[in-house]
Amino acid sequence: MEHSDIADDLESVLITEQEIRDKIAELARRIEADYAGERLLLVGVLRGAVMVMADLARELSLPIEMDWMAVSSYGSGTQSSGVVRILKDLDTDLHGRKVLIVEDIIDSGLTLSWLRANLGTRGADSVEICALLRKPAAAKLAVDVRYVGFEIPNAFVVGYGLDYAEKYRNYRDIGILAPHVYSSQ
Ligand code: XMP
Ligand code: MG
Repeated sequence: MEHSDIADDLESVLITEQEIRDKIAELARRIEADYAGERLLLVGVLRGAVMVMADLARELSLPIEMDWMAVSSYGSGTQSSGVVRILKDLDTDLHGRKVLIVEDIIDSGLTLSWLRANLGTRGADSVEICALLRKPAAAKLAVDVRYVGFEIPNAFVVGYGLDYAEKYRNYRDIGILAPHVYSSQ
């Protein structure tokens, strides 16, 4: 798909590629300061966090390890179901590890509060969260997210790993999906 086609499906560009890059660098500096001398395990949440994970991991000057989890709370719609299922679990033993969950977006907060609680039972030293985006609804649930990139309005966004029905993940900016896209399907 050409990016010009993707642009037709967007209401507006919310965050540009350059703004994302600058923010990831800013988050990386904070993480480096907080985990200096530690052996950090980044846990990426598939599939949306793939881009954040790839860019954040390369921006960090710390020695890190990466592992991945896949959970499902959404299906292909735009509403959180509140039901979290593990589709792929970690391969890493968390005992004594400093864990940083890397997420694309926190919306209702259900997925991440569940995930943190789940990983918290596996003997890790610490479990913190880094989310590139946070929607206002997440503020209602007490999820302590240590690193947040951008607070965004309550709209459905795509690009930079975020999808609608598996599309738009490779769009380089983050944009607000035009309502005609999901009302016509
Ligand atoms: P909750 O509500 O549990 O949801 O915090 C987190 C997960 O929901 C997905 N999500 C989105 N995906 N654009 C997307 O492409 C969005 O605007 C959006 N809002 C929530 C996402 O998978 C996230 O991990
Ligand atoms: Mg996700």
